[in-house]
Amino acid sequence: MGDRRRFELFADFVVRRFPAARTVFDIAGGMGRLNSELSARGRDVTTFDRRWKRAEVRYAERLFTLDEPCACDLLVGMHPDGATRVIVEYAARYARPFAIVPCCSDNGMSYKPWLRHLAELARERGLDVDEASLPMTGRARVLVGQPRGT
Ligand SMILES: C[S@@+](CC[C@H](N)C(=O)[O-])C[C@H]1O[C@@H](n2cnc3c(N)ncnc32)[C@H](O)[C@@H]1O
Repeated sequence: MGDRRRFELFADFVVRRFPAARTVFDIAGGMGRLNSELSARGRDVTTFDRRWKRAEVRYAERLFTLDEPCACDLLVGMHPDGATRVIVEYAARYARPFAIVPCCSDNGMSYKPWLRHLAELARERGLDVDEASLPMTGRARVLVGQPRGT
């Protein structure tokens, strides 16, 4: 079980870090709680996941892939598990920034090597990367990627 405050803490981080981003794709958003928090902060958010039990938010009930038409200023993912890599790849392909709070890897790597791997992947694909931390328990590191030079 992750820290129950993770959605509001991450939403605060996202709006502070990306004040101009209006349209957000929330990838692997589970029940849509990050969507609710970001929407309450004035963002236009679509969550991609497959949970049928969820909040009343704009929700694309499907897995997120690189083929998804790009209609966002920013991608976010809270503990996106198997979707983590595709967020980084999608951001690079469509030249969008991302902010993710990684959790489990998709390849057996432990937490810190997984964070390094994701950062390297983003840099290889032409994004600048930096890290931050949310004031919560559990997996709290935030990886932020931005198209180089923006
Ligand atoms: C650990 S849960 C986290 C859910 C939520 N973000 C949270 O913090 O409670 C991981 C979620 O990733 C979703 N997921 C995995 N791969 C995905 C993909 N390609 N597209 C969308 N969702 C995906 C799963 O369905 C699951 O809901």
